Amino acid sequence: MPLLWRRPLLPALLVLLAAAIFLADTITNLEIAVAVFYVAIVLIAVRYLDRRGVAMVAAACMALTVLSFFLTRAGSVPAGVINCAISLVAIAVTAYLALRTATAEATAREAQAQLAHITRVTMLGELTASIAHELNQPLAAIVLNGNAAQRWLAGGNRDEAGKAAERIVRDAERASELIKRLRGLTRKVAGKAVWLDVNQTIVETLPLVQNEAGRNHAALRTELARDLPRIQVDPVQVQQVILNLILNALEAVKDERVRDVTVQTSLGKPGEVVIAVRDSGRGLKGVQLDHVFDAFYTTRPDGMGMGLAISRSIVESHGGRIWAEPTVPHGAIFRFSLPSGRTGLRQPDR
Ligand SMILES: Nc1ncnc2c1ncn2[C@@H]1O[C@H](COP(=O)(O)OP(=O)(O)O)[C@@H](O)[C@H]1O
Ligand SMILES: [Mg+2]
Repeated sequence: MPLLWRRPLLPALLVLLAAAIFLADTITNLEIAVAVFYVAIVLIAVRYLDRRGVAMVAAACMALTVLSFFLTRAGSVPAGVINCAISLVAIAVTAYLALRTATAEATAREAQAQLAHITRVTMLGELTASIAHELNQPLAAIVLNGNAAQRWLAGGNRDEAGKAAERIVRDAERASELIKRLRGLTRKVAGKAVWLDVNQTIVETLPLVQNEAGRNHAALRTELARDLPRIQVDPVQVQQVILNLILNALEAVKDERVRDVTVQTSLGKPGEVVIAVRDSGRGLKGVQLDHVFDAFYTTRPDGMGMGLAISRSIVESHGGRIWAEPTVPHGAIFRFSLPSGRTGLRQPDR
């Protein structure tokens, strides 16, 4: 299996560094333990290589340490043996500890991805009625138009039959679009970043919550800024954040007299797109603002307290921020920003 290099220039850099340490270790006398500096190489390698790669780098560093011990002429041999042993132990222990930390970090990331998946699925559970309703509409329309087409055909009116068939195709496409989006949300692994039109994502997300809004007698509106730059993000994850915020907002307005939820987009600071969900709900009194985004923080009896925590981890992993503020006379606004100018992918022609 090839080593897992993630940076093209790194191998050359590490070899150069190793050669420099080797040279210094060999020309200085045995009392000077230059070889401990190999730990720097191991520490760099841990960030960019897989386990096997790190083990091989550490082994190579240890081999070089021993080799320069034999090549070095000047100095006291007993001191050289001790220094050599110290360096070998330092390299081995560093590699071991660094690998253990890296494994723990990977496990934590994995757990986080799983949690994100679980909250997505939970969220979809809450939305089942909404989604079923949304799917039912095009399906019912297909049946209706199918019947109509049959009648037109029986009556010999091919023009009208053709139009009914067109409507069938359009509705079937709508249903299939919806299913495609749902499949994305239930997908286990996070997808790749693409250049996304945030406004369009919001418009496509609303059908999933429309029925939920109806059940809470809430009015769901949008105020979308025009000419927003596209942003490079994982669309499923961003949709998950938007859904979380809307679901919370619908929850917050459900027992209020005025039940408005508005999804807004705007340009933030230069190079930043801001998405906000504002509601006229019970507001943030009694909510600890410095803890709302913590895992398991909830004020709802049946709450899980994961929605905002997952949202924050998604937003921050995209280089953005998320924050909440009370609004007057009542209600709350949850905003998150995403950087628009990320490198790596070419901005598509519009
Ligand atoms: N729009 C909102 N208005 C008022 N409070 C909110 C709003 N959104 C979130 N909160 C508060 O933040 C807490 C955490 O939200 P969240 O992480 O989604 O977990 P959960 O919805 O399971 O409680 C909620 O319990 C609630 O107290
Ligand atoms: Mg929630």
